[in-house]
Amino acid sequence: MERNRTVRKAVIPVAGNGTRFLPATKAMPKEMLTIVDRPVVQYALDEAREAGIEHVVFVTSRNKQVIEDHFDDTPELISSLEKSGKDDKVRELGELLPQAGSVSFTRQQAPLGLGHAVWCARDLIGDEPFALLLPDMISYGPRGCLSGLMDLYREVGGNVVGVEPCAQDEVSQYGIVGKGAAVQHGFAVTHMVEKPKAGDAPSNLFLNGRYVLQPEIFGHLARQKRGAGNEIQLTDSMLKLSETQPFHAHVYEGRTYDCGSKHGFIEANVAFALARPDIGGAVYQSLRDMMSSHEGRIRAA
Ligand code: G1P
Repeated sequence: MERNRTVRKAVIPVAGNGTRFLPATKAMPKEMLTIVDRPVVQYALDEAREAGIEHVVFVTSRNKQVIEDHFDDTPELISSLEKSGKDDKVRELGELLPQAGSVSFTRQQAPLGLGHAVWCARDLIGDEPFALLLPDMISYGPRGCLSGLMDLYREVGGNVVGVEPCAQDEVSQYGIVGKGAAVQHGFAVTHMVEKPKAGDAPSNLFLNGRYVLQPEIFGHLARQKRGAGNEIQLTDSMLKLSETQPFHAHVYEGRTYDCGSKHGFIEANVAFALARPDIGGAVYQSLRDMMSSHEGRIRAA
């Protein structure tokens, strides 16, 4: 069935435990860790809005209430900022606040994997195509990755995924796609496999956490058996859906930082800090100084 090529809704799963960032995530969700001065989850919401998304469904879990608070209004804070003349902060907070009724929250009750988290959003999405943004993966470039996926979706319909090249020794950390015929904004996907061994990967193009999916994915997710890591894997259900519907991939022209890893999280902080007009110059100078003072020790290690 050919559907409307407008995508109105997005899912942002924020239910994961954040074990890799303990103890920082003992009492705080990993999605609230900051890249410069914004929480990780804010970047995903901003990217969704930039791509024209009107409604975002967050799939949360226990101990994530602060994410809901982050996307609510703060009248007491605003009036105190107004009283102290901090108009720029008032403006910034106003711009970041989602319009009333444009975000929903539902809970994943057990940590059964990404596929299960997406399935938890099925009633709130309904029978229409939707975007999916994994907030650990932060787009850095002239525009967010989801906007590129939307261009490709308008061109070809069906299902669309974001990909980027990675080093051969990293393929086992991600979902990997096989590359088929080129289209204007991307290529046809011939295969998808979740966390393959280096020798079994169909390419070095990894799923970078951005998707446009048709609602038929939910039927596959409902029946999906556990896969890699003993979790219900989205990639396995996408592979099943690809037997009856087309999948295309858009190669992101920017860079995605994997903030689920400490290295990626630090890289993202440095990249966004260097790009900031207020602190970029000072951060650059500090980095140069630090690099020269650590160079000998790091080279020797
Ligand atoms: C998930 C997806 C994987 C994708 C990755 C991007 O894996 O299953 O296909 O490449 O996100 O971050 P996870 O990070 O949940 O292990």
